[in-house]
Amino acid sequence: MDISGKTKICGLIGNPVEHSFSPFIHNTMSEKLGIDMVYGTFCVKDDLEAAVKGGYELGIQGFNVTVPHKQNVINALAKVDDIAGMIGAVNTLVRVDGGYKGYNTDIIGFVRELDDAGIDICANTFFIIGAGGAARAIAYILAYSKAKDIYMYNRTKEKALDIQEHIYSNLGVKIHVVDTPYVEGLTDYVAVQTTSVGLSPKVDEMPVTDERFYDAAKCGVDIIYNPFETAFMKQFAKQGKPSYNGLAMLLYQAVAAYELWNGCEVDSVVVKETYDLLRKKLGL
Ligand code: ATR
Repeated sequence: MDISGKTKICGLIGNPVEHSFSPFIHNTMSEKLGIDMVYGTFCVKDDLEAAVKGGYELGIQGFNVTVPHKQNVINALAKVDDIAGMIGAVNTLVRVDGGYKGYNTDIIGFVRELDDAGIDICANTFFIIGAGGAARAIAYILAYSKAKDIYMYNRTKEKALDIQEHIYSNLGVKIHVVDTPYVEGLTDYVAVQTTSVGLSPKVDEMPVTDERFYDAAKCGVDIIYNPFETAFMKQFAKQGKPSYNGLAMLLYQAVAAYELWNGCEVDSVVVKETYDLLRKKLGL
């Protein structure tokens, strides 16, 4: 890669950042597309607002933002995309006049993953397991995109009720919060696993052990990608039903950010090549 005085700079803000795969994904895309951009990481421990302001003064084109700054960064922005503002979490900053505009490309990644899998949001009922940050963003985009129906189950019910109330007050859509992952009479839903249960090395764990939950679902989506096939996904494989892991979502959130920073469209061949390289890099 030829870095010069004209090279566009982007990077990841978070703490910690050193284990991130974002530099690999973005720098691979730049190389393949011949775009003069370099992507690094910035560990920001304390003063997030100073970091964002400093980034702007230094001419940095954009940032991704990760834990623990996805919520607080909103206070440091010139503008916020509507849906990202409603969710209350931003993972991508794009340079605009007077500061950065914040987006949530995690949800764009999720929607593109569903699209790739041929899952039409409007035509399906979704059953979300978990009620953390990822579940909130996913429930929002599903409600916003007019999913047929949305159910949510979480170990701590109050957190699911909080998401329910929030979505209802912003979008007027009432998601169903349930006490158990098995709901009598409910069938043919897309089951979405958003908890950290099953993440390597605890690969045999599942957030739901009631087999009836899997029997009633039509397919499963797990946001975990390590292991490549989680115990949750194996439940679907056992029944000959499709399931999808979170690797495409990870890649597509990066693709969406890359497109915003560069005003370009990353073609599907480059996406596929980057996906294969990422999978290899992760040893999956
Ligand atoms: P993220 O931002 O990645 O979604 P998070 O906000 O910490 O992470 O949320 C983690 C989710 O995983 C929560 O829904 C959590 O359930 P609680 O709200 O009851 O804590 C869920 N989770 C984590 N460990 C779990 C476990 N062992 N069993 C069931 N759910 C679990």
